[in-house]
Amino acid sequence: MSDSVDSRLAEQYETYPYPARDPRDEAKRLLVGIPSHLREIDWWIFGGRRPRSAPLSVLVAGGGTGDGAIMLATQMQRLGQEGTLLFLERSAAALAIARARAEARGLSNIVWHQGSLLDLPQSGLGPFDYIDCCGVLHHLPDPAAGLAALLSVLAPGGGMGLMVYAPHGRTGVYMVQDALRLLAPAGQPPAERLDVARRVMRHLPSSNWLRLNRNFTDHLAGGDAGLFDLLLNPRDRAYTVPALFALLASAGLAPVTLMEPLRYDPALYLPDPKLRALAAALDPTSRAALAEALSGNMSTHVVYCRRASEPLVFAKAMDEGAVPVGREVPGPDLARAIRPDGTVLLHFDGNPIPLALPPLAPAILRLIDGVRPLGAIFAALGERGVRLTAARRAWREMWEKLSGVNLVLLAPPP
Ligand SMILES: C[S@@+](CC[C@H](N)C(=O)[O-])C[C@H]1O[C@@H](n2cnc3c(N)ncnc32)[C@H](O)[C@@H]1O
Repeated sequence: MSDSVDSRLAEQYETYPYPARDPRDEAKRLLVGIPSHLREIDWWIFGGRRPRSAPLSVLVAGGGTGDGAIMLATQMQRLGQEGTLLFLERSAAALAIARARAEARGLSNIVWHQGSLLDLPQSGLGPFDYIDCCGVLHHLPDPAAGLAALLSVLAPGGGMGLMVYAPHGRTGVYMVQDALRLLAPAGQPPAERLDVARRVMRHLPSSNWLRLNRNFTDHLAGGDAGLFDLLLNPRDRAYTVPALFALLASAGLAPVTLMEPLRYDPALYLPDPKLRALAAALDPTSRAALAEALSGNMSTHVVYCRRASEPLVFAKAMDEGAVPVGREVPGPDLARAIRPDGTVLLHFDGNPIPLALPPLAPAILRLIDGVRPLGAIFAALGERGVRLTAARRAWREMWEKLSGVNLVLLAPPP
């Protein structure tokens, strides 16, 4: 069901396709983000058990100007993953940009469809093994209805990668949206509203939370599309972790994991042992909610989910046949990123997080190439005098940590 606010949203993305992208930039770089990296889908949706040779049917719903779709279709082509990606988008202008980007890359595995995701149930499209819906549900008149529409075309055993806004990291956004509703109300020409928004941003008092919020650059560097999307958007909601999980449950979905899993571990923010013990006693949703409240700065949540009736069974990361693979950064490069104190420095929501790895981590990482199974890695270490029990212990610890930040996952069977 559409409403007048939704018509304004449709107009916005027709006038200001989001995010602003120039197809010529495809020659220079591939944008990589979450959700929907093929390595993540292999692991977090299919548990590392779905063979690469099985064709993959993908839906990108509300694909915008193409970031997620271009990334995934490129990865499918590069990694020899057969299948088709259906790009569904309501805005003709956004779709045209995504299409030009795909053409610039010579991608032949995308099918283009202009329309509303709310029409999916009667569309005859699908079913899809994987559905990406990034930054869309929170704009819909009824996000639960949107999710139900997506679920209607999800194949048995498939899953989804969703992104929705989160409230704490958007602190200040809704206050400035309120101010702009007064100074630049809907109905005025968009260019006039943008001009007012720019002037307001220039003169925000130092007490304003958006000025203090370091999460956002869109209103400063994202051009007209970025500014409009953030501050003049006719509708967006933000979900805490429990609210997001309730939305999933209402559709019969269950989270596999939030991204990255370790970000949602409150222990990361609780050096005090007494507090850690209190946090450890909480149920998983409350622990994630606690991490969100403590971090205080999450502006989005990315979740991989499947039908609640189809819980995921992961391949075993300790099996000798398991093939570890760097999600994006090759193992040897990760080895080089380890600092002299044995930690890798990560940044979550503006917080520096040193991740301590075992002393054998560099030697193991140097052997991770996405082809070599764990058994061969242990054998190579054995030839250098490393005992199997020590290698297994180090790998177990590394795996918990590095898969928890999505840096190392398991490759699927061929
Ligand atoms: C914030 S943009 C996100 C674009 C893209 N998924 C990304 O993450 O870069 C939201 C997109 O959802 C699209 N959209 C909104 N409602 C839709 C609907 N009912 N059906 C299909 N697309 C829709 C908009 O046109 C817009 O391109």
